[in-house]
Amino acid sequence: MNLEQALTSINKISQARRGKELTPGERIAVLAAWEKIGYEEAIKLYRENFSPNYISCRAGPGVWKLLSKEFGCRVTKTHLKTVLENMLQDTSLTEQIQANSANPDSVPILFGVPPDTGNFVGYRSQVQHCIRLLRDHRNIFIDGPQGIGKTALAARIVERVMSKTNESIEICIWKSIRYGPLLDELLADLADMLGIPFGTGSSVNKLQNLLIRFFRKHRCLLVLDGAEILQQDQQQSAWDYYSEPYTDYGPFFRRLVNDQGNSSLIVTSRTRFLDWSDLHESGNAAEIIRLEGLAQDDAETIFEEQSLKDRHCWPALINKYHGNPLMLKVIAKRVRTIYGGSTADFLRVQSTIIADPLLLTLNHEFSPSSSMSEFECFAMKILADLMKEHDSVSYEEILQNIESHSLFRSTDGLLRTVSSLVNRSLIEETKVERKSKFRLSSVIRKYIEQDPQGFVGQKVQSVA
Ligand SMILES: Nc1ncnc2c1ncn2[C@@H]1O[C@H](COP(=O)(O)OP(=O)(O)OP(=O)(O)O)[C@@H](O)[C@H]1O
Ligand SMILES: [Mg+2]
Repeated sequence: MNLEQALTSINKISQARRGKELTPGERIAVLAAWEKIGYEEAIKLYRENFSPNYISCRAGPGVWKLLSKEFGCRVTKTHLKTVLENMLQDTSLTEQIQANSANPDSVPILFGVPPDTGNFVGYRSQVQHCIRLLRDHRNIFIDGPQGIGKTALAARIVERVMSKTNESIEICIWKSIRYGPLLDELLADLADMLGIPFGTGSSVNKLQNLLIRFFRKHRCLLVLDGAEILQQDQQQSAWDYYSEPYTDYGPFFRRLVNDQGNSSLIVTSRTRFLDWSDLHESGNAAEIIRLEGLAQDDAETIFEEQSLKDRHCWPALINKYHGNPLMLKVIAKRVRTIYGGSTADFLRVQSTIIADPLLLTLNHEFSPSSSMSEFECFAMKILADLMKEHDSVSYEEILQNIESHSLFRSTDGLLRTVSSLVNRSLIEETKVERKSKFRLSSVIRKYIEQDPQGFVGQKVQSVA
């Protein structure tokens, strides 16, 4: 917004409230406030004949009073520019929103492109639950292993919210942060998308304030997809939950959860963010949804779509890959193209397969430069060995096994290791008769056994 636009907007307000435009003296007051100069200087600059005293005691206060009433907050010479910039943000967007809310059949405005949900199946209770949570203005953290459908679920929710006019969301913003933007880059990007004016070089704090103010004024749904990047390679011993360049995301999320009025945030991540667990447990409007795979019937739809044969073999496959839609899609394609659609042939010939995107991720997770400690890798190797005879094992069984290798590990230390691996979706936790049991997905187990890059061997050797 520039001075001319500011004057036009104030003139409109003045016309609407008082039936007349700004007087020349009032214009000088606004000019001085906008340019942040004294009244005397402004009078000289604009070659007027007013006394500074008149502008300061009569003309100026008239405008500040008018604008304070209009915006419902205190406006003075010092605050005028900031208030105007915040309140009269991108008028085209504001007008669009107003036009939208006047039309009962309107849909919210969408920024960003969520993936297509044409083939989405299942996760019905999660979709319903999330829609209810959004209705209650809550914020949602969706976590789960790679390919389990976090992005797809978030896209489904956006689709539902966009098509249901009674959800009263005005704006949806879909933003993938998989590329790892620094917080100020993300905030500037969001402000830009929403047409919120901000000066170049604005501080993170100022950008946050502008955005929060916007979220309070308009009911928005902000989706940040692929947030695991913010905690990737974070050492377990580090004091902050977030990796080094991203540490200011923590306070930002906390502020959004506590401060953004009717708007809501959805974050998806492969890693559980422990600060969200803290927020949830301390009664803030932060909910956590863990995705653990499609139910049998829903997963079968993926095989049906590829016209696979031998339906009786499907449950074994779905079970083996824990209903992971990414894995099931890769397998369905392989069965169709290589085995002529025969699931029985595939099962007979193929052992566990690791889809390429998962192989890349696992290579990264186990690489010497990753944050996975040698002991974490060792614990996973122990679990992989135990799983040759058991479906899942208890914490005590892992501990006993580690002790049998004459490796001292405090109970607390091992518990921390195990829960860190669970949080990072590297091992799975299930409840058997209310007791925690742990297991590895067949894909990770296969990776550990095959050790294609030799990374597992290296790490394990340095512990044993
Ligand atoms: N409920 C579903 N119905 C049908 N297909 C699905 C479903 N969920 C996910 N998929 C498909 O599985 C694949 C992986 O899904 P998605 O990208 O949502 O996983 P993700 O959990 O976000 O993975 P990542 O951790 O890599 O971000 C995609 O091709 C997606 O279309
Ligand atoms: Mg995703």
